[in-house]
Amino acid sequence: MPLTLVEMGPDDFVRRRAQLVASYAEAITTARALTRAEAEAEAERDVAGRLPRGPATRGQLLRKALADGAEVGWIWLSLPGPALPDTAWISDVEVDPPFRSRGYAGAIITAVEAELVARRVPAIGLNVFGDNTTARRLYERLGFEVTAEQRSRPLAEVPAAEGIDLVPMTDYESRIEALFADYAQDLVQERGLWHGEAEARAARKLAELLPDGPQTDGMILRTVVARGVPVGWVWAGLPAPPRPGMGWLHNIEIDGPYRRRGYGRAAVTAVESELARRGVRTMGLNVHGVNTGARRLYDRLGYRLLAQQMAKHLAAR
Ligand SMILES: CC(C)(COP(=O)(O)OP(=O)(O)OC[C@H]1O[C@@H](n2cnc3c(N)ncnc32)[C@H](O)[C@@H]1OP(=O)(O)O)[C@@H](O)C(=O)NCCC(=O)NCCS
Repeated sequence: MPLTLVEMGPDDFVRRRAQLVASYAEAITTARALTRAEAEAEAERDVAGRLPRGPATRGQLLRKALADGAEVGWIWLSLPGPALPDTAWISDVEVDPPFRSRGYAGAIITAVEAELVARRVPAIGLNVFGDNTTARRLYERLGFEVTAEQRSRPLAEVPAAEGIDLVPMTDYESRIEALFADYAQDLVQERGLWHGEAEARAARKLAELLPDGPQTDGMILRTVVARGVPVGWVWAGLPAPPRPGMGWLHNIEIDGPYRRRGYGRAAVTAVESELARRGVRTMGLNVHGVNTGARRLYDRLGYRLLAQQMAKHLAAR
């Protein structure tokens, strides 16, 4: 008998809510380096904020999955909104333990995809945490592709960075301008925002992250110099919300002519040393799915996956 998706009622949601908060809290404990108590509070806040009226919340679809008369799991789908105008988001999908490994997760997602096609939603995305290889394999099989990854590495053993020095930035304005122009462009291309909105959002993000420019407290911005020649730049931050237990590599760039000479690797290592000297125990970073060179670099340096975002275009049938 085929699987069907049925709207959840308030009682269904009450029955599922505690488990939803608990598993989200567990995932973000590692992914955002939170204490258990911080993660529980954050998960509770997130679910309360995004589903204030449970299954009746506007723009959020909560469906239970039925097969052969039994409830086998459920899905929480967020319809496109201002943050992601073209993309519906699978906020959670769960197959109950007795029913796992029978293809139900794939059937649930395929069913919501059909519903989204009917609603003319162009794309669907999701987040998968850390070492959940089962889920990742499933999404790959269903045609999802990696759009971004967050990774981290403990800074217990940092080798010496060879061949480069990090010096105070010599070209902050032009570097930051180019970086945030790229960021606005990504918001247009990957998130479907219109140009003006993307630029406004990029400007807000810049003001939030670097209110005092290169002198911003907790930020480390450096030019990478090799044998006296500037070859690129790095930007890292000391631990801060939303990841209070982790330093963060906001950006690294080695200029075109100087790539593949080991400077990228050395620059990451030098940043790690600087953070470690300041008592930071883990460094995290974000990398785009299409940036295979950078993903390879971070693989080589031992950066492990914290979370991965994946997306799929939905073709009208
Ligand atoms: C990613 C970047 C910083 C790497 O700098 P780099 O100096 O070229 O990197 P390295 O020479 O230190 O490379 C170290 C390892 O990374 C991997 N790597 C780096 N660039 C790669 C590429 N284009 N293709 C495949 N692997 C690559 C390789 O494993 C390499 O080791 P190997 O040369 O011994 O095989 C650089 O390409 C860059 O500035 N790109 C544009 C900005 C960017 O994407 N930044 C990353 C944001 S997350």
